[in-house]
Amino acid sequence: MSIDIELERSLTPGTGHVNHLNNAGASLATQPVLDAIAAHLLREATIGGYEAEHEAQATLESVYAGVATIIGAARDEIALVESSTAAWTAAFTSIRFTPGDRILTGRTEYVSNALNLLLAAERDGVEVVVVPDDEHGQISVDALRDAIDERTKLIAITHVPTSGGLVNPAAAVGRVANEAGVLYLLDACQSVGQRPIDVDALGCDMLCATGRKFLRAPRGTGFLYVRSTALDRLQPMLLDSHSGRWTGPRTYEMEAGARRFEEFESSRATRIGLGVAVDHALALGLDAIAARTSGLAEQLRQMLVAIPDVEVHDKGQDRCGIVTFSVAGVGAGDVQRALAARSINTSVTGPHFSQFDLPARGLGLLVRASPHYYNTEDELAQLVDVVSALG
Ligand SMILES: Cc1ncc(COP(=O)(O)O)c(C=O)c1O
Repeated sequence: MSIDIELERSLTPGTGHVNHLNNAGASLATQPVLDAIAAHLLREATIGGYEAEHEAQATLESVYAGVATIIGAARDEIALVESSTAAWTAAFTSIRFTPGDRILTGRTEYVSNALNLLLAAERDGVEVVVVPDDEHGQISVDALRDAIDERTKLIAITHVPTSGGLVNPAAAVGRVANEAGVLYLLDACQSVGQRPIDVDALGCDMLCATGRKFLRAPRGTGFLYVRSTALDRLQPMLLDSHSGRWTGPRTYEMEAGARRFEEFESSRATRIGLGVAVDHALALGLDAIAARTSGLAEQLRQMLVAIPDVEVHDKGQDRCGIVTFSVAGVGAGDVQRALAARSINTSVTGPHFSQFDLPARGLGLLVRASPHYYNTEDELAQLVDVVSALG
């Protein structure tokens, strides 16, 4: 099924204002998402926040079903949280590390995850091992297998990094993790909503994602998946009145499923918006979204490398909708500003997001352009025109 781009653009008010090639930052939301959020906020203001929640109970429950469907999970394996980092840290801190435990990660691990690995190394005495890349620039599955020993407690990698079009071989990593019986935490923040995701095929025990990127949900939404069979190996760092129950002065119980990782308070309105965005992606089909998004990105790469003085830096065998490039003699910030002056949204990434990877490749700040399915070939050409004039 192919996507009706004109229809999708007519449902996306932002496309009338900007050439938005910063979907890896945050996508443009659709009108139905905006309407659903506004409608719930109005009900909160009209009848009361708790009462509006009660009224919307079935809709709120259906958000879990949608999120579960988009990653091939069961509904009770989903916790709704405010960000990918909130999901990742909830999962990570639920693992009890002892000095000498090893954590294996990849070179493109996301900054916030890496910072917490470094913190755990200092605080808990764990050893953080950065597994090298293979010849394609993706995590080496052979090196990963070789690095596993009896002290290895966790494999934590990023599926699609913030700083390039790489798609790591997450399913192959999952097979290695499962064979060794090692917990596997996958950061799928940039891949959910962009590509088909199936937690069983990936073999991950925990997966984190955000709403605002390729899922096109509002900011402040995200989720954590926890495989039901992994629950007894994890203990939430913190509980509250929603994730736990105070059953007696000295006793408590935890929520049965992944909701033990949630907090009571959250924006019900944006959560409903997340549900609408997820249903929209499911209706279009993740295969169609992936084909269109990766296709646009590949076209953009080809147009960019044809410009003298422009280098494209995406690595990996399988590449997705994130394009990173540099223009010789022009700083990434200047490129971004020149594009922004023409209402073309991109972002700048660099070593501060990716210390295990970019410095080792001799790379500094890079421009990141990230099309989504609703972008057009014309919009790519507009970016290329501006960049060509800079070189
Ligand atoms: C790969 C990756 N992981 C995690 C995050 C963090 O997401 P959030 O800001 O929702 O915590 C990002 C954000 O850019 C990301 O690119």
